[in-house]
Amino acid sequence: MRQRMSDSEHISRKSGQQQRDAKISDSVKARRCAALAVMDVVANGKALELALAETEDYAGLEARDRAFARAIAATVFRRSGQIKAVLKPFVRKKPTARVQAVLQTAVAQIVFMDVPPHAAVSETVDVLKSVKTTQGFANFANAVLRKVVEEGKPLAAATPPKANIPGWIRGEWERTYGKIPMTKIAVQLIKDPGLDLTVTQKREDLAAATGGTPVGRQSLRLKSIGDVTALPEFEAGTWWAQDLAAAQPAQILMRQFSEVKNLRALDMCAAPGGKTLQLAAAGMEVTAVDKSGGRLKRLEENLARTKLSANVVQSDALEYEAEPFPAVLLDAPCSATGTFRRHPDVLHNRSPKSVADLVRLQDKLLPKAASLTAPGGVLVYAVCSLQPDEGLPRIAKFLDDMPDFRLIPISSLPGLDLPPDRFEGGVVRTLPSDMPKSGGLDGFFIAALRREA
Ligand SMILES: C[S@@+](CC[C@H](N)C(=O)[O-])C[C@H]1O[C@@H](n2cnc3c(N)ncnc32)[C@H](O)[C@@H]1O
Repeated sequence: MRQRMSDSEHISRKSGQQQRDAKISDSVKARRCAALAVMDVVANGKALELALAETEDYAGLEARDRAFARAIAATVFRRSGQIKAVLKPFVRKKPTARVQAVLQTAVAQIVFMDVPPHAAVSETVDVLKSVKTTQGFANFANAVLRKVVEEGKPLAAATPPKANIPGWIRGEWERTYGKIPMTKIAVQLIKDPGLDLTVTQKREDLAAATGGTPVGRQSLRLKSIGDVTALPEFEAGTWWAQDLAAAQPAQILMRQFSEVKNLRALDMCAAPGGKTLQLAAAGMEVTAVDKSGGRLKRLEENLARTKLSANVVQSDALEYEAEPFPAVLLDAPCSATGTFRRHPDVLHNRSPKSVADLVRLQDKLLPKAASLTAPGGVLVYAVCSLQPDEGLPRIAKFLDDMPDFRLIPISSLPGLDLPPDRFEGGVVRTLPSDMPKSGGLDGFFIAALRREA
């Protein structure tokens, strides 16, 4: 019969863990946070940032150790197939999910990160020893990881980057974009993505101050992400972080009008606000709707820092009512698989079912957006997804259901060097492998639609 633990037993168990934790260093705690977050992302579909924040030690760590934990976990997701290939010859019988996650974080450090191998091995062993349920695997892990130190790099090099993309996603991308483009997309996953800023002032000055390179119409590309708050003019608010591809939907919308100043615009799924900021910076009278209070708080902080304004509304967009707008942007909730360069976890916390659920929501949001578009007005639909179902079929269905809307064909994007087939069918598809010399792009699908007058 199962017996309840007595209070004193509970306290002594808890204090056992606390005693173990008191002895371990912050770098061991950071490694433990990384492994627990990896498990949480995979098992529970959580976003990596949230999974890390929810680990017990994360908030108490210094910024440097938090960044280390994040880098380890992100490397596990960037290199998942190669890491599994490295471990396979040395792990005959799979241990528990927790031990596997710990081993994966160790391989990430030994093979792919600039971490001294002896530190990665001994501190990983300490991670296992620090938890009662994994203590018994310490010797096993030590033996496996010594092998990884000797043989891991060639094993990883023999595994192609496309192995890092989960099978179901790889299948969809190969069928949609072709085998060779798929291979090029996979190469972007293992590269450091850098940081794009959308700049409202003369970008040459900021380029000189940051060493960034102007790209597209309004963007500046920096080599590495780092601490954005430490960049020049952060307080002045003359820029915000936004991928070059993510800057395109609002630019496409604005290009449909001869004058946008004081024009009413609705950003239907607006938070954290990159596109709202673009519209507001151009002088549009923006209403920014989003259902998430937490994300709207970030939007409001972004507006305050950039000294821009918008009418911010917390609402389910499906229930939002207002006088129709001449300009509507629907940056719909989506699988976000196109953002894997900066968020590699999106390839590991999505499933065919979660995409199908999002497609159903997109099919509801599009007609709602149509009802909020004034006659003669323009609706731009965008998703930062590479999954085919979230793109063209949504627009084809919408046009079938809404006879008073027409596609506004797009055949180029000013300042972007994209091959002509990215505009097939009059819509835009960016791939992470586009503009490879300047560092790639997020994967976006964008379509512009006009309502008859
Ligand atoms: C792709 S993100 C938007 C990114 C934003 N446009 C930007 O550029 O920063 C999608 C947003 O849709 C919001 N969302 C999801 N379902 C929604 C709904 N039913 N009504 C309103 N917003 C929703 C999410 O909270 C999320 O902020």
